[in-house]
Amino acid sequence: AEPLRVALLGCGVVGTEVAQRLTTHAEAYAERIGARLELTGIAVRDTDRTRAGIDPALITDDAEGLVGRADIVVELMGGIEPARSLILKAISHGASVVTANKALLAEHGADLLAAAVQAGVRLEYEAAVAGAIPIVRPVGESLAGDKVQRILGIVNGTTNYVLDKMDSEGWEFDDAVKKAQELGYAEADPTADVGGHDAAAKAAILANLAFHTPVSLSDVYVEGITAVTAADVARAKAEGYAVKLLAICERLEQADGSDGVSARVYPALVPHEHPLASVHGAFNAVFVESEAAGELMFYGQGAGGAPTSSAVLGDIISVARRRVLGGRGQSEPSNGALPLLPIDQIRTRYH
Ligand code: HSE
Repeated sequence: AEPLRVALLGCGVVGTEVAQRLTTHAEAYAERIGARLELTGIAVRDTDRTRAGIDPALITDDAEGLVGRADIVVELMGGIEPARSLILKAISHGASVVTANKALLAEHGADLLAAAVQAGVRLEYEAAVAGAIPIVRPVGESLAGDKVQRILGIVNGTTNYVLDKMDSEGWEFDDAVKKAQELGYAEADPTADVGGHDAAAKAAILANLAFHTPVSLSDVYVEGITAVTAADVARAKAEGYAVKLLAICERLEQADGSDGVSARVYPALVPHEHPLASVHGAFNAVFVESEAAGELMFYGQGAGGAPTSSAVLGDIISVARRRVLGGRGQSEPSNGALPLLPIDQIRTRYH
């Protein structure tokens, strides 16, 4: 099939990683898709900055022009505008869109998805919630036949890192935030992390998917971790709890007996014996309670360039396959290029 033209919007921690992997893994992706992905350009605000490992010829400040010539638009710039307009433009041109923009989805997700449905294109956003962890598709599709009762999520890596370092190392709040920024977990402006707004955007997205009902950022109660001190964390620990910033999405019975939905984010006391208490560092975890499936837990790296790029690249391959397959969306069974190893070559001991 013809190569698919990929336009990248944004070249931060995640964008850089995605651009590099599109090059280094080009052969494998072409085989998985049945067509090559051709990275046609990377739109950035500041074209003068040098970006290690990125071909300077790809860099442009003409995001509109790039979008107009793409089959797949990958939006990793963040923020509401111009991300929203560029995505709508991509959709109106018939391009498929992949985005990791949780703030945008939490505020305008319904409109963007409606535009995509109307244009008959895909809009995928697996990377918008909990980085590398596959959670958008599992909650939105795999559990669509079940009845989700509650979701408890550690969905912000920065705050989990900060609270965990206060707990295990006795670090002070500000030092831990600085370190999280250095490690590439925090947003450009870490207020969204420590204030709980990043987690609230993810809670809104999860609540939409889990309860099949519109929930936006303004519907989510938010309390961040800025008031939590090292002493609070130490006291909680002595009493058998870990302090975790939880995103809680819950189906609750209202006074008249009908179901309602509550979405909230706040620092909660999690008993040490609950699996969420063992989520350390910048890791994320999402604990789902549903009627038929019972309890499920999804765990992994929720922030950082490489982990988040995994989810973005998965979405790119997914939308690319659908384009190649003309909407059937079901890929052929693999022909198997790797040899199967005999049992005596396999390390059986776990260590
Ligand atoms: N700043 C976010 C976090 C990145 O710390 O989780 C992933 O959305």
